[in-house]
Amino acid sequence: MKVKVSAPGKLMLFGEHAVIYGYPCIVTAVDKRLFVEAEDLGLKDEILSPQVTENKFVRESVTLFKKKFKINVPVRITTFGDLSQNVGLGSSSAVTVATIKALSVLFSEELSKREIFDMSYRVDLKIQGVGSGFDLAAATYGGTLNFVSSGKVIEPVKIKPLQLIVGYSGKKADTSTIVKGLRSKIKYKKTKELIFKIFDQIGKIVRLAKKSLDQEDYTELGKLMTRNHRLLQKLGVSTPKLDQMVNAAIEAGAYGAKLSGAGGGDCMIAIAPEAKRHYVEDSIISTGGEIISIKNNAQGVKLEK
Ligand code: MEV
Repeated sequence: MKVKVSAPGKLMLFGEHAVIYGYPCIVTAVDKRLFVEAEDLGLKDEILSPQVTENKFVRESVTLFKKKFKINVPVRITTFGDLSQNVGLGSSSAVTVATIKALSVLFSEELSKREIFDMSYRVDLKIQGVGSGFDLAAATYGGTLNFVSSGKVIEPVKIKPLQLIVGYSGKKADTSTIVKGLRSKIKYKKTKELIFKIFDQIGKIVRLAKKSLDQEDYTELGKLMTRNHRLLQKLGVSTPKLDQMVNAAIEAGAYGAKLSGAGGGDCMIAIAPEAKRHYVEDSIISTGGEIISIKNNAQGVKLEK
């Protein structure tokens, strides 16, 4: 038997880093998807994945699933899709969630979304050691979510698709190194106080952003994005390139912009009136950024025909 499943990538809209310390964040699933095919054949497990990072996540997911359900049959997993691991849109979270879902269908072990999330989070922590799991929640549930670390809160935020512009900085971010770097600063009383003051402000921004999303007030939402970016700069996780891209977007008429994710590279996002989209995109390109075309609010993990 062969089963095909897909899961979406993600974009962090508000609240990165603070989310790891118990604050809420807002994440949205994007329409770039990772596909997983699972078959029960062969003499031993075989993982055909073009991307090395994905391979690790698939292997760990298979190990955990087989252990939990006491399965001894070899499987072949093949991954493909339009979600490159280089741009930080969540290919490892999508592949983990899709693998677990595919195995559950293949072996008729029904799993709820919550169970898929929890199993995926175990895989993620085993490999990366750190992380809130927000990306796994986006891959599992889809849409846009209000999320608190380890899934303490996973709540849909009902919104229309956003006029988002995504710029890739050209550099792959190393999330766990950045997260661990911040954690090491939190060990010292003085820096800890400062960092938690910034987290408090980020937490407030997330709550206000939720309100602006509810009210479809994109001018305000943009302002909150830019404020969130300035706070991430204070945390020291932005880069000159991301700052340039963010500033270029704002100068070209975006309502606001910020880095999205851990910082240190990967992507920035901007929200802009449709009439300004081209100016904003050109302006980001002029700084050396690459535009990635996405739609948000994508469907979570699903079985493909
Ligand atoms: C990285 O994309 C977002 C962080 O908050 C990490 C996490 O929540 O797992 C920095």
